[in-house]
Amino acid sequence: MVKRLLVVLLALVVTLAVASKLEVFSWWTAGGEAEGLQELFNIYSKLYPGVEIINATVAGGAGAQAKAVLKTRMLGGDPPDTFQVHAGRELIDTWVKTGFMEPLTELFISEGWTKVMPKGILDIISYNGEYWSVPVNIHRANVLWYNKTIFEKYGLKPPKTFDEFFDVAEKLKAKGIIPLAFGTKDGWEAAHVFETVLIGTLGAEGYRGLWTGKTKWSDPRVTQALEIFAKMLKYVNPDHAARTWDEACALIVEGKAAMNIMGDWAAGYFMAKGFEDFGWTLAPNNEGIFDALSDSFGLPKGAKNRENVIAFLKVLGSKEGQEAFNIKKGSIPARTDVNKDLFPAYQKSAMEDWLKHEIVPSVMHGAAAPESWVTEFKDVIALFVARPDVKTTQKALISIARLHGMPE
Ligand code: BGC
Repeated sequence: MVKRLLVVLLALVVTLAVASKLEVFSWWTAGGEAEGLQELFNIYSKLYPGVEIINATVAGGAGAQAKAVLKTRMLGGDPPDTFQVHAGRELIDTWVKTGFMEPLTELFISEGWTKVMPKGILDIISYNGEYWSVPVNIHRANVLWYNKTIFEKYGLKPPKTFDEFFDVAEKLKAKGIIPLAFGTKDGWEAAHVFETVLIGTLGAEGYRGLWTGKTKWSDPRVTQALEIFAKMLKYVNPDHAARTWDEACALIVEGKAAMNIMGDWAAGYFMAKGFEDFGWTLAPNNEGIFDALSDSFGLPKGAKNRENVIAFLKVLGSKEGQEAFNIKKGSIPARTDVNKDLFPAYQKSAMEDWLKHEIVPSVMHGAAAPESWVTEFKDVIALFVARPDVKTTQKALISIARLHGMPE
């Protein structure tokens, strides 16, 4: 009898243990990304040692492959328990308006997040009077990273304008150094750089207007951006098509390339590699502008382990979670009440800039435009890298915008 009871109990324990899972879907596999995610898991596992975390990552920067896998799963009725999604249009247009998510407003109120997260961030996760995902960070897209030793060796100053950039690039090229590290393997990286060039020629207001119809895509400043970008492409490593964003960063670590333009996940990468010799300034002509995006996680309808997700989201939104994650990730916390002293120098500077710079939404990372527009935009710019034809490309950009209801 006792034996039978024990067997039943054991079976129950095993069933409970098996049932207690949490699947977290993201594309965080690169240096800095994986370390940041692990910090969140560590905190969660300490609080809930009985829950098995399934780290469902699909490699590929900016979600190049993950987003397609996610779509298949969501449409097939097999949602991960929670998934990485950019705050802004990507979250709202792709998943919220279509009815795939549960609102999280109660959680925001009970956890006090509405009091510690900036209005700008709360706005882009809101729809129909509800909050829909928990932002874990704020990333900056428009940063120019450089190898300090190379710059010192040749007496160069980090460029602030396009003219200075080309001047420095020419000097580096003459020394046999790759001026601008570039990786286009995943298809989004060129659009990322081009986004910063658009900001450089249009300014904050002009760039924002591209996604709202206030700035026309036929604008001569778009032409200028394409011309500048075509010129930049003369200074990149010839093997860029075989490199991912982090493999491009590796050229800087190895001292083969001097600069690259990438989001501040690059800081996370450099730190994860133990490389301390990196400097940063803004992408050329981006003075005073913060090109922003935010990674967030939500609760899809039909999540198999709903309670575990809610517990995980609490960790994501907590002070401890945001500090531990962002120190490794290169981003800054979405919460404003964190201990700044804990952060590396780069993030300290980004925190200051966030408060004083003008904020614009990143298009490549889901904040500015619906996903379909982003996909078309990135494909046209990827093509431009192979065939930098300014006229044809601008025409294509104009017709994509027209498809999305923008005036010509
Ligand atoms: C994400 C970052 C990530 C980067 C490269 C961006 O879209 O927001 O968290 O590190 O892609 O994978």
